[in-house]
Amino acid sequence: MSGLFGRATKQALLRANCTPCVHQANTMSTFRNLSKAKKIALGAIGALAAGGTGMAIALNSTVTAGELVLHPPKLPWSHSGPLDSFDHGSIRRGYEVYKQVCSACHSLNYINYRNLVGISHTEDEAKAEAQEALVTDGPNEAGEMFQRPGKLSDPMPNPYPNEEAARAANNGAYPPDLSFITSARHGKEDYVYHLLTCYCDDVPAGVNLGEGQYFNPYFPGGAISMAKALYNEIIEYEDGTPATTPQLAKDVCTFLKWCAEPEHDRRKKLGIKCIMLFSMLSVAIYYMKRHKFTVIKSRKIEYRPRK
Ligand code: HEC
Repeated sequence: MSGLFGRATKQALLRANCTPCVHQANTMSTFRNLSKAKKIALGAIGALAAGGTGMAIALNSTVTAGELVLHPPKLPWSHSGPLDSFDHGSIRRGYEVYKQVCSACHSLNYINYRNLVGISHTEDEAKAEAQEALVTDGPNEAGEMFQRPGKLSDPMPNPYPNEEAARAANNGAYPPDLSFITSARHGKEDYVYHLLTCYCDDVPAGVNLGEGQYFNPYFPGGAISMAKALYNEIIEYEDGTPATTPQLAKDVCTFLKWCAEPEHDRRKKLGIKCIMLFSMLSVAIYYMKRHKFTVIKSRKIEYRPRK
């Protein structure tokens, strides 16, 4: 049955009575043959589409540039080149900064202790880190929630039980979860770095600071409710690196970048492999294409009208 059907359709396709199609294709293919009104209408639609796109782009950039905000300059991160992986020593130090400074106010809900294993800590070290945290679990047989030391499968502890508590403790401002912060902000880790290191004491005219607000030129609007968090020697690194403010900021940004893109190293490694493989394949494909097209490119088509 399917054979019959196939044969019938094939014959229909091969049949050479396609004069109306050719005629139709000729009339459809040129703008020239359209009536004047249609040309004007098409032109207007084109102009509208181009104008709309231009306006959307212009509006978008005015909104960003119109706010009182300084765009962070690009920094030479140890992981920013196409062939660079993360500095894992820096990730480990960054975790120390997060744990001892930022975790007082910011959660890191999407990072579990097990994620640290093989990245910045060994399994035993990560277990020890987890055990320092107290986690609410339950209910037990009596139906009550209880506290237990953390396990590798637990996420980093949240400093506040809910958003309202976080706002109440921070003058109404909500310290955002830091898991994806470097992907969530314009300027990425450059922004976070400058935000942490560029607090200014002199407030320029036009910036009105509310209660508990500080001036930071990199924060949109300039008035931020987070006090300067990093100072020289605010913590002591366990590997003995001098804990200057820029060092602390660089390490915590590298750590936060890893939190937001844990697949970063794997992605770049895969990218290198793909580029190598596909460039080899493209040579083979080019050869195959030339090979298969020889017949088509060297043939000659003649048209002999029937007498
Ligand atoms: C005392 C509490 C506190 C500490 C400690 C703290 N922050 Fe914040 N952070 C805040 C608050 C509150 C906000 C919200 C500010 C606002 O919206 O005005 C904030 C906002 C932020 C933002 C987002 C800014 C934006 O563009 O919305 C980042 C990034 C940030 N903090 C990073 C850090 C890092 C990194 C650390 C550790 C080095 C840290 N914070 C330590 C309270 C804190």
